Amino acid sequence: MSNIQWFPGHMTKARRMMEENIKLIDIVIELVDSRAPLSSRNPMIDEIAKNKFRLILLNKKDMADERITKAWEKYFNNQEIEALSINALKKNHIQDLQKKILEVCQEKIERDRKRGIKNRPIRCMIVGIPNVGKSTMINSFVGRASAKTGNMPGVTKGKQWITVNKQIELLDTPGILWPKFEDQEIGKKLALIGTIKDEILNIEELALDGIERLWKDYPNELKERYQITKELSPIDTLIHIGQVRQCIEKGGQISLFKAANLFIDDLRSLRIGKISLERPVINHEEREEG
Ligand code: G4P
Repeated sequence: MSNIQWFPGHMTKARRMMEENIKLIDIVIELVDSRAPLSSRNPMIDEIAKNKFRLILLNKKDMADERITKAWEKYFNNQEIEALSINALKKNHIQDLQKKILEVCQEKIERDRKRGIKNRPIRCMIVGIPNVGKSTMINSFVGRASAKTGNMPGVTKGKQWITVNKQIELLDTPGILWPKFEDQEIGKKLALIGTIKDEILNIEELALDGIERLWKDYPNELKERYQITKELSPIDTLIHIGQVRQCIEKGGQISLFKAANLFIDDLRSLRIGKISLERPVINHEEREEG
């Protein structure tokens, strides 16, 4: 799923598919990456999902800086956007999610009850840009699901509802949306966390960008990982990484290409630590509280 090229034609198709499916659902569950929650949102999601209950899931919480992820939850909640951080690989987190879905849709449940409608399940759809964990999340749900129902009238051919429990049904196909890829800053962050794959990028430039970010927000983690004793410029840091990790070209010189790949791999595999590339702007009073 990760190598989708978002040409205008694909974007129109993806949007049309989502708009078709969205008619059938009550709540849009938007997955983002906890390490860069704003950059991993779709630019049109508010428009596409308008008039639906909404929930933002900060997924891959196990990969992000815990303190920053908590701040993100608070940031969204302060804007009256329901948000929950989660690790889609953990089945026990799904239970928290189920509770949250019912909480968010409480108004609908009440409305149905008043109209005498009983046992109508909440219908959910998972959406997000590639690689945020949509399939993983659906699989974790399926693991708990009691049964799969057959095709339902009005549902796009092949689509199925997964019966999670008496109260919740989930569309088995996620809505895949595009990132805000025209913004370079966003593109770089998504590349650093591995959402955008390497072929389209200059790996050395990307590594230098990542190193600069770490010097700003995680200098100790960077120093510790690569035995650095004093602050260096990004390029000197990359050369240093090449030296200490023996990234050598045939002629015996340091290979910046190898060093860059090694650094990016370390970053994405959490070997430098749990790193968040985006922080919410928190106002003074909130900082005092927290
Ligand atoms: P998608 O459907 O949104 O495209 O994403 P998908 O579920 O395929 O997940 C992308 C990768 O992210 C998968 O790794 C998956 O295991 C991992 N992943 C999903 N949720 C979490 C989470 O909460 N925590 C962690 N640590 N990983 C998560 P993969 O199969 O190894 O793919 P890749 O890393 O080779 O791209």
